[in-house]
Order: sequence, then C-alpha cells, then structure tokens
Amino acid sequence: MSSSKATYCLLLWILVGAHSFCDCHDFEIKQNHTATLVVNASDVARQQIPPTLFGIFFEEINHAGSGGLWAELVSNRGFEAGGLHAPSNIDPWSIVGNVNVINVSTGLTSCFERNKVALRMEVFCDGSSCPSGGVGIYNPGFWGMNVEQGKTYKVVLHVRSLASINVSVSLTSSDGSQVLATNNLIADASVVNHWTMLGFNLQAIGSNSNSRLQLTTTTKGVIWFDQVSVMPIDTYKGHGFRSDLMEMLVRLKPRFIRFPGGCFVEGEWLRNAFRWKETVGPWQERPGHFGDVWNYWTDDGLGYFEFLQLAEDLGAAPIWVINNGISHRDEVDPTSISPFVQEMLDSIEFARGAPDTTWGSIRAAMGHPEPFDLQYIAIGNEDCGKRNYLANYLKYYYALKGAYPDIQVISNCDGSSTPLDHPADLYDFHVYTSASTLFSMNQKFSTTSRHGPKAFVSEYAVTGVDAGKGSLKAALAEAAFLFGLEKNSDIVAMASYAPLFANINDKTWNPDAIVFNSSNVYGAPSYWMQTFFTESSGATLLDTKFQSNMSTPLVASAISWKNSQGDYVTIRIVNIGDDYVIAHLSIVGLDPTSVQLTGSKTTVLSSSSLMDENSLDYPHKVAPVTDSFVKKVPRWM
Ligand code: AHR
Repeated sequence: MSSSKATYCLLLWILVGAHSFCDCHDFEIKQNHTATLVVNASDVARQQIPPTLFGIFFEEINHAGSGGLWAELVSNRGFEAGGLHAPSNIDPWSIVGNVNVINVSTGLTSCFERNKVALRMEVFCDGSSCPSGGVGIYNPGFWGMNVEQGKTYKVVLHVRSLASINVSVSLTSSDGSQVLATNNLIADASVVNHWTMLGFNLQAIGSNSNSRLQLTTTTKGVIWFDQVSVMPIDTYKGHGFRSDLMEMLVRLKPRFIRFPGGCFVEGEWLRNAFRWKETVGPWQERPGHFGDVWNYWTDDGLGYFEFLQLAEDLGAAPIWVINNGISHRDEVDPTSISPFVQEMLDSIEFARGAPDTTWGSIRAAMGHPEPFDLQYIAIGNEDCGKRNYLANYLKYYYALKGAYPDIQVISNCDGSSTPLDHPADLYDFHVYTSASTLFSMNQKFSTTSRHGPKAFVSEYAVTGVDAGKGSLKAALAEAAFLFGLEKNSDIVAMASYAPLFANINDKTWNPDAIVFNSSNVYGAPSYWMQTFFTESSGATLLDTKFQSNMSTPLVASAISWKNSQGDYVTIRIVNIGDDYVIAHLSIVGLDPTSVQLTGSKTTVLSSSSLMDENSLDYPHKVAPVTDSFVKKVPRWM
C-alpha cells in the first residue's frame, strides 16, 4: 500500500434492486452470492475525469419551462396563443359574469408590433346593476396558480380605455370565492386613452395552489388589455426561475446545460421552430410561438437570454442547440441557408459581443453588459440522416470556426462506431432503450477510437415497460451506463439525462427526471441516481474490479475527489439483479490510517420492488438514504 498524507472519508453509494443488505461493507443477498470489489486507489490506477462530464439537458417539453421553471403565472399573457389573427380563441382566459353583462373579443389593436392581438372587454352593467364582485376576465394560469400567504406577486399589465378605469386586480381561488390578494387599478382617461403599462405588487393574505387572476370592474365601458403578467417576487436570484425547481437543479451540480431542445429546436415545421431573435428584448414585445412538436404555446418569457442566465446562475457551461434550417418535415436548401447561418453568428454576438455591438447591446440593455461564457454550439438535433444536414452543417461549421475559432462545434452524427466524415469537436449521441440494453451499454464506448471528436451523450434514459413513469429499475441501469461513461471519459466529454422536467398536467413524455405541479415537485429514481454522480466531473477515477463467481449483474465505479472540507473516496455499486450479494470491499493503494471513519457514509438507493416509482403523494418512496459508514471497524482495516 502506498501512503498518503491526506485523510479520506469513504462514501459508499449503493444502488440495488435486491433490497436487503446489512450494515457497513457487507450487504447480504438472497442466494448467498459473494463478490469482492477491489478498488485500486494507488497513483498508477488513476484517470482524470473531464470537469464537465455530467450536466443537464433542458427542453421545452411537458411544459418544462412555460408553466414550469419559468415562474410566470399567467398562461397566454398576450392573447396570442389562439393564433396571430382576430377573432381568436383566448383560452385559458374566461369571463367573470355572463354574456348579458360582459362581452370579450380579440382584435389586432395592440401597441406591440410583433404581437398585435389584444383583448377588448365591453361591460354593459354599471354600479349596482353589476353582479356583486363585478364582471371581467380571469386566467387560471397553468392548471392553477400557486399563491402563498405572505408572498409578494408583481402584476404588470397593458391597458387602454377612452374613459377612466377602476379595475380590481385579484388573486382568488379557482371559483373566485376566496380572495387571496387584491388591489384596485384606478386611472384617469388622460392616462389610459393610449396604451399604458400599469402595475403594482400584491401581497397574499392566504394560500391556494389552484388560484386564478381576476380583472373585474363595476364600471360600464370598454377596456382593452394586453400583455398581462403575474410573477412571484421570490424567484431564484430574482431572475424569474421557480425556486423549488431550481433547488432540484442546484442539487445536481450540473457542469453544463444543453438548451432549449431537442425536437423543440427543430419544430415539426420550420415555421414553428425556436427562433432566438423572437425571444429576446422586453418580454412584452416577444411574439411567442406554438411549439408544434410538443403541441403547446409558449410566450417565450424563457427566451435565449434567460437560458444563458440560467446557465450562469447554475455555474454550468451553456450548450446552445441552434436550429440548422431543418425541422421534422421541411428543410432549407444549402443554396439558401446563409441567412440561417448569419442568425447563428448573431446569436453568438448576442451572448459574447461587447455592449456596443448590434446584438451585444440588446443583451446589455436586458441587464447583462458582461458577456456570457458561451463555448459550445450544437448544429441541430437528431438531424444527421436528413437530406441537407451535411451540406448545411458544413456551412455552419466553417462560418463558426472562421468567426469564433474557440467555440466547440457539436455534430448530430454518431461517431462512436465509425469515424465522422466531417469536422467536429464533439458528436451527439442519444439513447432511449430497455434496462437490460442500457445496462449492457456499460461497455459502449470501450471500443470507440481514441482519436477524433469526443462523444456528447446529450440524451440517455431507460424508456418503455422497464421505465413506467420512472422506475428504480430504470435508474439502476442508467447508473451502470454512467459508470461506463466515467471509465471512457477520455473520449466521452459530457452526458445528460432526458427529459429533465415534466409538469404532471402535460406529461407527453415518460419518464422524466423531475415532475411537478403548481406547488409540489418530486424527483424520479433517475433524478436521485444522478445525485450519485455530482462529484464525478473533474474527479479522479480509480480502477475497480469485481471478483465474483456469479452472473448477477453487478457493476461498480470509484472516484477520489476533494472539496474545502476534505478528501473523499466515493465507491458506487449497482446490483440490478434479483439476487442478494455479500460484497466484500478491498481498497488497495490507500493507507488505512488515512481513512477517517467518522466522516464516512453509506448512501443507498433501493426499494421493495424494482418497478417502484415516486409520485407527488409519495415523493421519497425511492430516494437515497444516508447513514454512517460503519458501526464497527471494517474487516479490511
Ligand atoms: O427527450 C425527448 C426527445 O427525444 C427530444 O426532443 C429528442 O431530441 C429526442 O428524440
């Protein structure tokens, strides 16, 4: 054994389907199988893991952002979701009162050039002839607004009327009977006879997770409304991100964030793809768009700027997936792709350009004069096989390298089996498969060429019957797969699970790592599995070998790492089989006297059934449980 001056805490993380195991380093299994895990902590058996190996992939899918991470409470705040025409459907807005006392319609009357639809509300009753509480409109948000007692909500709306107005702006229960916060918007005709932005803060005197916003009046006349927003004040770092969902992300310590999709970037048709220029600048002026792959409208409050801000707030490297002129159903010909290429170059100027550049000045005006640290661009999503992909890709690639040679370019083509036929710094690799297949893909990159671009496993998950809505079984297979990525991290640069978020009211994709409604959130087992890897990026990988005479699917990985509190060796073991195993742990190359048992811990992710899932009612059915490492001195010391 070589000696070391540092003292190490041992962190043993166990992910098992076969539930029972005893304390410390021995855990017991049904068939009395035994295995010895040998961890070599000596200097010769060490490999450096890249600092950005594990991150997250945020896609606007399942209302992940709109009605999710983006804390805006009003759904369809600009009345454009029903189409950019008038008349249009104003869903989910509806009326308070009935058609005898109020009429609402849409018209192309807004002061905002890119989103002309505004709401016209005509009130026929006056004073005591109106129903008590008045008449008007309400918005239920995204399946109910979460209003919490004592919290403050910022209301901003745009209004116009030829006469003076007196409008009650209230947060109420879903039927309007419980008033949680209210204020009167009173303005003279001279103020509102042209479009005017008005606003104030509302403080809630009660709580209700299924609330709505009401705009009501008892004054006869016509009022136009547009761009109505309600944001909680206490968003993460004041940047508009829902705090409880951000906490879930912060716990993962993501080293990068890929955004904003996925298929969301492509669109079913190009006309519905994510176009970043329409998502920056003042929120009121953004047109919003219908994401036709996942079939919902987004006001694009969570736009390109906010994604860059999100990355910065998480301390994660932004990975910007740019639309490359290709959607699911149509493609721009290479002969006419140059405006799209310019759009990408402009996006980099927006992120990194000086405040006196055309696009950098817009970023600066949005409150971020310093450049964002954008170093990665992915050219498209899952488009490799498409007719125009390669020709378009090359135009993007050379334009990018010419203007920004330091930016790392990510190709959609898989280079894991055969080398790419085009230049790239990284290539995208996606895998959605069964538990047994992903488990066996533990070896996936072992035979990949050690030369050329590195792999970015930007989407991985167990799906189908093994996964259900998010099972322990899926998490175990994924952990085994990640062990393989750590071992091959000389050529695998980054990896992220997909999808990250789902609002439970629009779960179009199963499973998802983090599931929420207006007020609650839980992590699927696959989310908790990722917490076993939060210290891997930048750590030192140690050599591990299982000595066993059985075929039970057992895999392990070990790392050493340090933080300001000390030095650690983390050993992780996955047993996805049905059999219990007595596993003996042997660590070589580490001076036993350097091990500090008091700070050492065991963490177990398990449950009584492999198919167990978490839910809003049982958020921690399958969640890590941490205990002290030993209650007695382990045998190996
Ligand atoms: O993660 C869900 C979808 O799966 C992504 O949008 C797409 O890239 C993949 O097909």
